[in-house]
Amino acid sequence: MITTEIIKVNAAAPEAEALDRAATILRRGGLVAFPTETVYGLGASVYHPESVKRIFTVKGRPGDNPLIVHLYQWEQLTEIVAAVPEQAALLAKHFWPGPLTMIFPKKEKIPPEVTAGLPTVAIRVPSHPVALELLRRSQLPVAAPSANLSGRPSPTRGGHVVADLNGKIEMILDAGPTGVGLESTVLDLTSARPRILRPGGVTFEMLEAVLGAGEVEAPQFTKCDRPLAPGMKYRHYAPQAPLRLYTGDREKINCALLEGIRRETAAGKKIALLAFEEDRNAFQDLPGLSYFSLGERANPAESAERLFNLLRLCDEIGVDAIYAVAPPRSGVGEAVFNRLWKASGGNVEEIK
Ligand code: TXA
Ligand code: MG
Repeated sequence: MITTEIIKVNAAAPEAEALDRAATILRRGGLVAFPTETVYGLGASVYHPESVKRIFTVKGRPGDNPLIVHLYQWEQLTEIVAAVPEQAALLAKHFWPGPLTMIFPKKEKIPPEVTAGLPTVAIRVPSHPVALELLRRSQLPVAAPSANLSGRPSPTRGGHVVADLNGKIEMILDAGPTGVGLESTVLDLTSARPRILRPGGVTFEMLEAVLGAGEVEAPQFTKCDRPLAPGMKYRHYAPQAPLRLYTGDREKINCALLEGIRRETAAGKKIALLAFEEDRNAFQDLPGLSYFSLGERANPAESAERLFNLLRLCDEIGVDAIYAVAPPRSGVGEAVFNRLWKASGGNVEEIK
C-alpha cells in the first residue's frame, strides 16, 4: 500500500497547483488517475517503461492488451507515429480533441510496454479540460488505460477510481462525473479501410460523414453478435452479478421480464433491472426489484453517461442478478449495446 493523494479539482477550470503536482508526478515516473470526457484514465509517461508496466500490475491487466497514448495537440503526433495517413488529419480536424482513438504505425522509440509489443500505437487527444491541461503541463505523451481494475466497469466518477485504485497509485484527480460515459471509439487506420475496433462516442455515422459513404468498416460486432474466436475473452465491463440482456420487441420484453422478475423475487432473489424511462411504470411496486433508469430510449447519450455507474451500483447494493433492456442500435446506441453485450458475457435473450 502507498498513500494515494486524492485531489478534488474543478472540471471546467482546474486549479493550476493540483495540475502542476500531478504533472511532476508523471515526469518522475509516478501514476496519476485523471478525468477525460469519456472515462477516467490511469496515466504514466510513455518514456518510463517501468511505470507503464506498473499500470498493468495495479490494474491486473493482461500483458497483451495495449494502451492508448494521450496527447494534448495534433502537433505531437510525429513524435510517436512513423507514418500519418491522409485520413488522420481530416479526422483529427473533426473529432480532436474528443472521444476518437486512432491507430497508427509506431516510431521505434515508443517502448513495447506501451503497445504490448505491437508495431502500432493507439492515440487520442481528450477534450476534458483537466486532461488537456495536465498533458500540456507535463509535456509528455501519457499512456493511459481506463482507471479501473481489469474486468470491472470503467470509472465515470472519481469515487469509482478511489474504490478500485486507492493505495496503489500516487494521485487521483477527481473532477466529478465524466461526460460521455463510455470509452472512446477505436479506429484502426493501418488496415486497408479504416476499421472500427471499438464503438464509442464518435459513431460509425459520424465517421462516414467525414470519410465518405462506404469508407469505414463497421465494428464486426454489428454484423455478427457471436464471438469470432474461441479465445476471445467474453466478460468485460462486468458487474459481479450475472447480467442478462434482452433484445427484440419492447412490449414482449416487458411481459417476459415481469414474469421472470416476479418468479425470481418470489424465490427471495434480489434483482436489478436496467431499462428505459418509458418502461418505469410497467415495473412499479415489485418488492425485491431495484429499477435503474437508462434515461429515455431515444437518448442513447444519456444511457452511455449512466451505464457504468449503474453497473457499479448493482454491485454496491449486492443483487443476485441483473436484467437489462437493449437500446436501439444506432448512433451512440451501438456503443451502449456493445458494452451491455460484453457485460452479459454473451447471455443475450432475443424476444420476438
Ligand atoms: O476513452 C478511452 O479510450 C479511455 C480514456 C482513459 O482515454 N481509455 C481506454 O483505454 O478505454 P483502455 O486501455 O481501457 O482501452 C484501450 C483499447 C483496448 O481495447 C485496446 O486493446 C485497444 O484500445 N488498443 C490500444 N492500442 C491498440 C493497438 N495498437 N491496436 C489495436 N488495439 C489497440
Ligand atoms: Mg479499459
